[in-house]
Amino acid sequence: MICDNLSVSEKGHLLFAGQDTVEIAEKYGTPLYVLDEDKIREKCRAYKRAFARYFDERAIPLYASKANSFRRLYEIMTEEGMGIDVVSSGEIYTAYKAGFDLSKAYFHSNNKTDEDISFAMDHGVGCFVADNIEEVKAVETEASRRGIRQKMLLRLTPGIDPHSFEAVATGKVDSKFGTAIETGQALEITAETLKTEHIELMGFHCHVGSQVFTEDVFERAAVIMLEFAAEARDKLGFITRELDLGGGYGVRYVDSDPYLDIDTKVREVSQAVKGACRRLGLDLPEIHMEPGRSIVADAGLVLYTVGTVKKIPGYKNYVSVDGGMPDSPRYALYKSAYTIFVANKMKEPCTFKASVVGRCCESGDILQEDVMLPKSVGRYDTVALCTAGAYHYSMASRYNKIPIPATVMLRGGDESYIAVKGETLEDLIRNDL
Ligand code: LLP
Repeated sequence: MICDNLSVSEKGHLLFAGQDTVEIAEKYGTPLYVLDEDKIREKCRAYKRAFARYFDERAIPLYASKANSFRRLYEIMTEEGMGIDVVSSGEIYTAYKAGFDLSKAYFHSNNKTDEDISFAMDHGVGCFVADNIEEVKAVETEASRRGIRQKMLLRLTPGIDPHSFEAVATGKVDSKFGTAIETGQALEITAETLKTEHIELMGFHCHVGSQVFTEDVFERAAVIMLEFAAEARDKLGFITRELDLGGGYGVRYVDSDPYLDIDTKVREVSQAVKGACRRLGLDLPEIHMEPGRSIVADAGLVLYTVGTVKKIPGYKNYVSVDGGMPDSPRYALYKSAYTIFVANKMKEPCTFKASVVGRCCESGDILQEDVMLPKSVGRYDTVALCTAGAYHYSMASRYNKIPIPATVMLRGGDESYIAVKGETLEDLIRNDL
């Protein structure tokens, strides 16, 4: 199994977090997002433990909200003592409504509007991560108007290609994100920021990409960032107090994906950070990282019910389910690999090759092409799309006026509860005038 929270029952049903997914599908209906609360907590603890062990007590992991964001999740993040990364007024508002202490929030995005900046300040967001000089100026203007000093990190691009897929590679020089070190612009923006009166520059941020497995990408990024910190010290007299190395650790979608151990990965980064600090004569800054996918992805799956099975002899077979690209857009967008099971037929051999597709009026509405399923797959079977806790609900759309499904949380081996209600047809026209 791709993750240790998946197993098979005596009956041949897929168990997730120890619970029967077929029964969960019957109880709550499909399509359904399912999240394993215990797994999310386990991941947060693994990050926190590793940060304390390999850095120091100031270092806290920041959960990257964009991976999945709803009220209950921020309550869990509060209980687990995590910080968060937010990228919009919407994420800030959701965290705020969950009672999350926003002084532990880092506000990203490459284009914060004046309204976003003001909203974030109203809600006490702890640190802004400015992407470019316009943002620095806009934050300075608003902070000055309020008579406050706003903490800030500058997002820089270390010029590293993480060798994951193009759409999520963000640390390269030609990225839309951040200010490049290589071109000298990073030093310029640092100098400009230091001239402001209402910004307290704490340090620097980088994020090299997502679903990264490549060895030593984070270590190389850390070293480049610390070399820049030393340059800023030598040329501008600036002392870096915080260094945020972004998110990006890969997770297992299919058996051939490697498994990354959080403790090992954090230890490797810490060795690179500490080694570079020693070599460059820098004090160890407060270190942050922003894991999103690696906290929630394998804590989630999507359950569907099969509607039709279409066989085109000599060509292809299609299994259509009652959801698709609106709830799970990652295959349509990135051709992402996934593991798919027929959850009520786990003991049957998989000898039938088919593409599992959604119900939208669009040929690209595919969940996965050419997967092996039991030959008897048919109407009313339950299908599970695994490793779906990250970038599914948060990227959902209502294409074809299909309501966004509910999110059910599982915990303790036998408890389940609705964390986000499924949308109703009435919800779909709530704002129509
Ligand atoms: N920090 C920053 C500044 C980011 O841009 C991201 C992701 C993260 C942290 C979290 O990265 P993670 O640990 O989740 O890999 N929609 C795409 C992923 C986009 C990631 C964008 N930034 C997907 O579904 O694969």
